[in-house]
Amino acid sequence: MSLVEVKNLTKTFTEDSEPIHALSSVSLAIDEGEFTAVTGPSGSGKTTLLNLIGCLDQPTEGRVSLEGEEISKCSPQKLSALRLRKIGFIFQDYNLIPAFTAIENVEYVLWLQGISAEERRKRAVEICERFNIGKLIHRRPYQMSRGQQQRVAVARAIVHKPKIVLGDELTANLDHKTGAELMEFLKELNQKEKITFLYATHDPEMMKQAKRMISLKDGRLISS
Ligand SMILES: Nc1ncnc2c1ncn2[C@@H]1O[C@H](COP(=O)(O)OP(=O)(O)O)[C@@H](O)[C@H]1O
Ligand SMILES: [Mg+2]
Repeated sequence: MSLVEVKNLTKTFTEDSEPIHALSSVSLAIDEGEFTAVTGPSGSGKTTLLNLIGCLDQPTEGRVSLEGEEISKCSPQKLSALRLRKIGFIFQDYNLIPAFTAIENVEYVLWLQGISAEERRKRAVEICERFNIGKLIHRRPYQMSRGQQQRVAVARAIVHKPKIVLGDELTANLDHKTGAELMEFLKELNQKEKITFLYATHDPEMMKQAKRMISLKDGRLISS
């Protein structure tokens, strides 16, 4: 059984009563331990695919299963619970909570899971130290560089030990060097901790780092 199974996945949006076929009958599987890029031009359906796998949206047709459990049929409550346990997200603009310090941002998902304050802090500090942001944990996002903020975002995405980490255009806002460092860092996490990564990108440098590429065009799978 694959970690993620996507079968005939279709997502159609409607805008001004015109259908927009963001994804058309996409089928693929992601195994545990993969480090895979989803590529394709702007508008090809990358974000839509990640959002569907990440339980942020529901398909029009087809299904997504996570560890054999079909998520496309889950209620919104069930989806939130699944997301909380099994998924980590790293967004393009990080989506850190501006009023929270770095450590509070990292702890937040553990708080949502109902983990005790003491345990939360212990786990969050541990991960921040490992990510070389241990000295910055009491800073708010605006007091950190983009590279540091990105590390906080990665720490937050993996602190709850998700099954899969999804990243959308991770390096789009980073300069070349910081972007390359981030990729090295994610690769190391993939190799050492067996964290499965699926990331959308149209940056050739980031594609080079992938062990596997899934290509989309106009919402259709061209190769995987
Ligand atoms: N919420 C939405 N409402 C209407 N159209 C959307 C929505 N989200 C995405 N789309 C459309 O679906 C297509 C695929 O978008 P997206 O998945 O964001 O592509 P990518 O991430 O590859 O740039 C595009 O044509 C986009 O305009
Ligand atoms: Mg996108």
